[in-house]
Amino acid sequence: MLADSIRELESGSLARIRAARTLEELEAVRVEVLGRKGTLTLAQKEIGKLAPADRPAFGQILNGAKRDLEAEFDRRKSEFDQAATGARLKGEWLDLTLPAPPPRRGHLHPITRIQRELEELFRSLGFAVLDGPEVEDEYHNFDALNIPAEHPARDMQDTFWLEGGHLLRTHTSPVQVRGMERLGPPLRMIAPGRVFRNESVDASHEHTFYQLEGMMIDRDVSVAHLLYFMKTLLTAIFHREVTVRLRPGYFPFVEPGFELDIQCLICGGTGCAVCKQSGWVELLPCGLVNPNVLRMSAIDPEEWNGFAFGLGLTRLAMMRYGIDDIRHLQGGDLRFLEQF
Ligand code: PHE
Repeated sequence: MLADSIRELESGSLARIRAARTLEELEAVRVEVLGRKGTLTLAQKEIGKLAPADRPAFGQILNGAKRDLEAEFDRRKSEFDQAATGARLKGEWLDLTLPAPPPRRGHLHPITRIQRELEELFRSLGFAVLDGPEVEDEYHNFDALNIPAEHPARDMQDTFWLEGGHLLRTHTSPVQVRGMERLGPPLRMIAPGRVFRNESVDASHEHTFYQLEGMMIDRDVSVAHLLYFMKTLLTAIFHREVTVRLRPGYFPFVEPGFELDIQCLICGGTGCAVCKQSGWVELLPCGLVNPNVLRMSAIDPEEWNGFAFGLGLTRLAMMRYGIDDIRHLQGGDLRFLEQF
């Protein structure tokens, strides 16, 4: 009687194990039948109630049922496992013979590249690379460079004035002053950085652009030293002969002052928007440091003198890469930037 019910339980459970459609369903059947409180497990406990003589036969049936069910359960489970592994393999299959997608790699902005090259060059020549604030005070941007208030030279550099007498630096020359103050003579320094002018923007003018300032102070520095460094600089930048011309130039902080122009590399000197049809581009204003400037930074001009230059990094990048509109450089258009 009891044996019949066990056989019934076995065949019913086997059918359910076979009918399970998922691993979860299968597991549910297992718990229900073979689990700690499963029907078969509970039936096992009934043995004690039987007459001792009946126990072995019943036990055999029970064990047989358990074995069969467990075997069938294991068989189904491995079926599910295999199916899952198969599905995963199919999903994760990779064709290793396919060409790999090109790695997405960023690169430096053309101005950053030129800046770093020049930093390296000047370091090798014994120059320190200095940094200075973009928000400057009037003293460092103007007064200490021999440009007092009311001086007409202030009008050459349309200034973004800020509150409290501060301003956005109009050139990197204030870093000369900070360098002299901090390090004193002898001094070899460059200072690359962003400068700002309140100008209307066109193909060759931006309100924000980059300069690289340079200064050397020592004993007996002459125009010959200045020219040597300027030539070294230009050769390193362009890797080729460029035609240059030197004109007298006026900057209150140098005396004598020069404008070093290069023949326009965009149009080859025939005239274009970048060189304003002149064939020449102002690239490198420079000169010997005005004694007043030294004096204001507590350097004795009887003992020391030097040269200074202010390279237009933005213009330089345009010349080197043949960029005909300054607005591209800060425009943030990736189609432009990705070309470099
Ligand atoms: N600071 C000047 C400018 O931006 C350039 C300059 C620097 C000229 C150093 C001479 C010497 O216009």
